Amino acid sequence: LPIVVLISGGGTNLQSIIDAAAAGALPVEIRAVISNRADAFGLERARRGGIHTEVLDHREAPDRETYDRLLVELIDRFDPGLVVLAGFMRILTPELVAHYSGRMLNIHPSLLPAFRGLHTHRRALEAEVREHGASVHFVTPELDSGPVIVQARVPVLPGDDAEALAARVLAQEHRIYPLAIRWFAEGRLRLNGGRVWLDGA
Ligand code: GRF
Repeated sequence: LPIVVLISGGGTNLQSIIDAAAAGALPVEIRAVISNRADAFGLERARRGGIHTEVLDHREAPDRETYDRLLVELIDRFDPGLVVLAGFMRILTPELVAHYSGRMLNIHPSLLPAFRGLHTHRRALEAEVREHGASVHFVTPELDSGPVIVQARVPVLPGDDAEALAARVLAQEHRIYPLAIRWFAEGRLRLNGGRVWLDGA
């Protein structure tokens, strides 16, 4: 399955996908890694993995609609069967989301629908929840609200600060994202009327 991965930062989720593919555990061809920031370390991870990289700096576009139109043109140059958002810190326009409906995934560091948006670990600590985690979901126009495919839970431990909790969640992200992408690549994942169906092995 040809995929394109979109990043903005460190790219540890990208790395877990690169590693799973290299180990033969994920039947995908990463055709390009696209970042909106030239300084994203994830670009270095892609280069080390021999993967084509592109930077589309959002500051070069006059507005969000223009940026997303340019981004769609860039993504479609690689003709992906799946677009993977991995720490891509941009709000997407409904037009772009509609263009990739049913074939764009995102990972969010919370047990959705809890803690949509940013700073999820600090907010989880402030809310004194005993469990936290990560969610992989299909991308829909409403932020962090698409149908959830798979979630991982972690305990919130006494003495946790945001960094400790984030690290515990991130380790689980690296487990569930390759899993969800593999299910999609195997043609087992389907979006039916807003519901996620996972067909048998
Ligand atoms: C992670 O918390 C992930 O959930 C979110 O961005 C953060 C950094 O991810 N999407 P990465 O290390 O850049 O993959």
